[in-house]
This record gives sequence, structure tokens and C-alpha cells, in this order.
Amino acid sequence: MILNLSEGKKPFIAYLLLKFMIFIGSDHAGFEMKEAIKWHLENTETPFEDLGAHQFEVEDDYPDIAKVVCERIQKEGGKGILVCGTGQGMTIAANKFRGIRASLCWNEATVKVAAEHNDANVIALPGRIISKEEGVKLVKLWLKTSFSKEERHNRRITKIKEFEKGKVHL
Ligand code: RB5
Repeated sequence: MILNLSEGKKPFIAYLLLKFMIFIGSDHAGFEMKEAIKWHLENTETPFEDLGAHQFEVEDDYPDIAKVVCERIQKEGGKGILVCGTGQGMTIAANKFRGIRASLCWNEATVKVAAEHNDANVIALPGRIISKEEGVKLVKLWLKTSFSKEERHNRRITKIKEFEKGKVHL
């Protein structure tokens, strides 16, 4: 049977094949972009959970949101999308969590490398640097791009995992 799927349904098919849940979160500076990403995920029936902020709150702190998202990925697997003003704070915070490979992404090239080379299980987007429409485009690209599984990239990721096992003196 040939399925005639619209472009918008492809992320849903990616979920059926890969079976991963997407956890999303933002601070106030990423709130609008997160809402746009949510809208896109809802419209493409892509399974996700919004872990906050649930309303615009100028005093919220990005590490709190990064923590909630990363702990869920540690427990349940899946992938994460974090948005703050520059994406940098979320990236720094997320990479403190064992098993998380968070990449700061701001254009197509950075998204492709994050997926194909770094096998990033979290992307962080800069809500104050790029438009929310660009943010949504980057999410679409990330969801359809897979890890290359090339030996050199596996080797490099294995070395990063060794840092987490305490095999190097930090
Ligand atoms: C919040 O004002 C801002 O500092 C934060 O969203 C983020 O850009 C930090 O990296």
C-alpha cells in the first residue's frame, strides 16, 4: 500500500518508526517560540509534552526548565527541545545531565550537524536571536534528520560518554 502523506504528517511517521517522545520547555525569553513549536507539533500529531513554562513569567529561570526536561529524558528516553533567549543557558544547563547531548542550533547547518554528527538528544534554540517561524523550521528539520552512525562520529560520542563514566580527570 502506498501512503500519500503530506509534508506535515512526516514527523508523526518518524515517531511511529522511532517511537520517541519530545519534551519541550522554555523560559520567558523562549516562551513565544515554544508556543509556536507546540502549535506545529500539535498540528502534525507529533507526540510531545510541554514541561513549562506554562505561562509567561519574566522572573523564571532557564536552569529550572532544563532540569525538568533533562530528568524526564533520563528516566524515559526521548528527545528535548529547549528555548531561552540565546539558547546558550539552556545548552550549558542541559549538558550537566548525564546522557544528555544538547546542541545549540540557530540555522540549518547547526541542526544537521547536531543530528548527523553529535546525535544530539536535545536541541536548544535562541528565541531572541531567530524568529519563531525559523525556530519551527529548525524543529522540522531536526525531526527528520537522523544520526549518521558513521564510525568516526560513534567514536567521538563514545569518548564523551567516557567523560561521564569518570574515565578522565576533569
Ligand atoms: C533571560 O533573560 C536570558 O538570560 C535567558 O533566556 C538565556 O538567554 C540565557 O542563556
